[in-house]
Amino acid sequence: MRKKVTLITGACGEIGHALIDHLAEQGGAPILTLDLQDMAEGQRNKVTHIKGSITDKALLEQLVSQYEFDQIIHLAALLSTRAEFSPSLAHRVNVEGTLLLLDIAAEQSEFRQKPVQFIFPSSIAAYGMPDLATKSQFPNVKEWEWNYPTTMYGANKLYCERLGIYYSEHFKQLAEEKPVMLEFRSVRFPGLISAFTVPSGGTSDYGPEMLHAAAQNKAYACFVRPDSAIPFMAMPDAIKALIALAAAPADALSQRVYNVTAFSLTAEQFAAEVVRHFPQAAITYAPHLKRQGIVDSWPVDTDDHKARKDWGWLPDYDQQRCFAEYLVPNIKARYS
Ligand code: SER
Repeated sequence: MRKKVTLITGACGEIGHALIDHLAEQGGAPILTLDLQDMAEGQRNKVTHIKGSITDKALLEQLVSQYEFDQIIHLAALLSTRAEFSPSLAHRVNVEGTLLLLDIAAEQSEFRQKPVQFIFPSSIAAYGMPDLATKSQFPNVKEWEWNYPTTMYGANKLYCERLGIYYSEHFKQLAEEKPVMLEFRSVRFPGLISAFTVPSGGTSDYGPEMLHAAAQNKAYACFVRPDSAIPFMAMPDAIKALIALAAAPADALSQRVYNVTAFSLTAEQFAAEVVRHFPQAAITYAPHLKRQGIVDSWPVDTDDHKARKDWGWLPDYDQQRCFAEYLVPNIKARYS
């Protein structure tokens, strides 16, 4: 018999790192992880790790023959800055990789006559504000507003949300018999900040980079203007959102893609928080025009009242708590 597992792709990234610790502590289903990287030493005993690509169909088929995926948490992606340097690779990983996994989840849902739950982190990058005037005029965007991403990554996320909805609601819609379909659920995250890992390849990275640099007594030149505003969230809240959405009863969900947010702040306000806790921090601004353009296209904040209403979403960390209670103490311990 095939072994029942939760599959986590992109498990060695920032979200995966935090998620594995959380799930292992909860002691739920066995975890199978898939990533191009080796699993971090401290997490190897918590999972069964496969080193490989989500675009490797033969590998995925081999995994299907060995495992039953009760839940797929699909984190693997090339983030927004990285994707602009290799757009076709980004499309292969972010879209074609997702499609392969959706196909597998669809097949397994039918085979076992029970939906595979498919959890997908989407992003504020799915939005595209046309200019700064519009960005400040509409500071709290709803899920269906301003879905005009300007990046390959954002376009990939938005499309994969639609694919997930298709596979959950309309898959094989012309067949005589309605198949058992997978169950897709997604959250659109703001910029995530972890005390334990640093991001790579994203465009919201200036926040965490500023903070981690200050904690190491390194000067930091911020790549966006001081007035650039986007929402951020502490990593434990991101994990909380994924877990809560996954656990919500299906009939409580009125949509499949939900905004979640915690606090919005400008780069200057972010820097002020960093300086409050690390008074020696040397932060300057050297805006990178292109990356600035991406941040300018993202909303000031998102409206997450649907998530609050449908599945009780509430972040634990507002701006003050995020820095004072989560980021600063853990980062100080990390670099001391
Ligand atoms: N943090 C991501 C990025 O910057 C947005 O989802 O690409």
